[in-house]
Amino acid sequence: MKKMNYLLAGAFAMMLSWCPVQSTSAANEGNETALNYHFTTKWKRGKDGVIRTVVPKREKGQEDVLELKTPALKTVRVGFVGLGMRGPGAVERFTHMKDVGLNVQIVALCDYEEGRAKGVNENIVKKAGLPAADIYSGAEGYKQLCERNDIDLVYIATDWNHHVPVALYAMEHGKHAAIEVPSAMSLKDCWDLINMSEKTRKHCIQLENCCYDFFELNTLNMAKKGLFGEVIRGEGAYIHDLSDFWAYYWKKDKNDKLGWRLEYNKLHRGDVYATHGLGPVAQAMDIHRGDRLTTLVAMDTKSVIGKGLVEKATGKECNDFQNGDHTTTLLRTEKGKVIEIQHNVMTPQPYNRKYQLTGTKGFANKYPVEGYALQGKEVKLDGVPNHENLSAHGFLPAEAHQALVKQYQHPLITEVGEKAKNVGGHGGMDFIMDYRMVYCLQNGLPMDFDVYDLAEWCCLAELGYLSMSNGCAPVEVPDFTRGYWNKIDGFKMYKTENTWY
Ligand SMILES: NC(=O)c1ccc[n+]([C@@H]2O[C@H](COP(=O)([O-])OP(=O)(O)OC[C@H]3O[C@@H](n4cnc5c(N)ncnc54)[C@H](O)[C@@H]3O)[C@@H](O)[C@H]2O)c1
Repeated sequence: MKKMNYLLAGAFAMMLSWCPVQSTSAANEGNETALNYHFTTKWKRGKDGVIRTVVPKREKGQEDVLELKTPALKTVRVGFVGLGMRGPGAVERFTHMKDVGLNVQIVALCDYEEGRAKGVNENIVKKAGLPAADIYSGAEGYKQLCERNDIDLVYIATDWNHHVPVALYAMEHGKHAAIEVPSAMSLKDCWDLINMSEKTRKHCIQLENCCYDFFELNTLNMAKKGLFGEVIRGEGAYIHDLSDFWAYYWKKDKNDKLGWRLEYNKLHRGDVYATHGLGPVAQAMDIHRGDRLTTLVAMDTKSVIGKGLVEKATGKECNDFQNGDHTTTLLRTEKGKVIEIQHNVMTPQPYNRKYQLTGTKGFANKYPVEGYALQGKEVKLDGVPNHENLSAHGFLPAEAHQALVKQYQHPLITEVGEKAKNVGGHGGMDFIMDYRMVYCLQNGLPMDFDVYDLAEWCCLAELGYLSMSNGCAPVEVPDFTRGYWNKIDGFKMYKTENTWY
């Protein structure tokens, strides 16, 4: 009997060596047969119980793109791909770049649906008094746009399935790629984008607007200046009941009853939209700039609302909705810190991105209540009475809070905050994000994000799936820099070659 057990254990161990991900799909209640069709990376579970995925070797002669600088562009000539609910707002924001001293040219507009691209040309580009852009459409119109030789940047706001093909084609044809979030949907996507960015020496960044929200920028400034001591824990989330939006996502043809986003959630388990929560926390914690993500574990609830949405849209029973209604991912860093990220686009509850930093000397929290808690003796607040009596047991009183924010206002907010509020886009953060990207391109400076941030913030989907489909096992987060996570000393937003915020 003992020998039999030994043989069975051996056979099981062999089954676990370098498995394709699909082979262990044991997902939410009753959907064991469903397939996460984007998740194909090979993995292996070590004797320590940790699942490790294959890290592709860097090609000979290829170097990392950390702090990549590219030639300064006098005018940033841009082509937009994907003009559904999100894309037109980006075009609109670019019509305001001249007001903040930046030169851009809107050269081309592309959407699968020709009418959408034409509509943006009429209602936004021409209305702003700018020359009409060239129009591209259809499933592969983006290829013609990328093949032009008068475009520097391709700005991608398509559905998730088209982010990577468009970005790869853009870089292959000599353009920088800026991709809406989440920019990569699988580990293969992450590695393909990294390899292409390294090979072509083109920027490949994700458009993570939440890193530029006012509270996040000011808090980042405080964290960098050491106000919270050492930040040892961070929380972030994307909790947004999308019930008002599901009906409006693009549908590929008349048989498409779900629209791309609901279908994507139906087919994929794991945190498929982690970047809003993780981005600002990762910047405050210097991820791959002195620390790095090492391990994650994930856990989700069963799907109730998602399953119901499919049943309503199709009129048929749905037993294979992969994405849990609420997914939680815990990540550990090399330096012993912890990050918690949550995703829930299903249940009725207030919008919440959490954004919480726990430091050895203070604490910051954005949702549901904005507040800072600091030990009085640590704080030097100009003009705030009795600040030496502050206690971290409660949030700072309103007067002290305002004084703190004023004292630590991020210089970017001082620079373009008012303009950003006027232009709009989630209260202004979208404009600050676009402003920074164009500013860096025009001045030949490293971007605020690189392709490794993109991979780190997007990998939670496939790695979380791997964890959950293996009994919530620990999963190694690959070092996407392939050995250089400690090369840069701290997160920086470059102002000039030698100065940064
Ligand atoms: N950062 C944010 O705050 C934020 C907010 C909303 C959406 N988003 C992201 O923006 C992206 C777009 O979302 P949305 O809400 O506009 O979706 P949407 O369904 O409204 O629009 C998607 C558009 O992509 C187009 N498209 C599809 N295939 C294409 C192709 N091959 N070539 C050109 N166009 C193609 C569709 O025709 C459609 O117009 C998503 O990645 C989403 O996650 C980000």
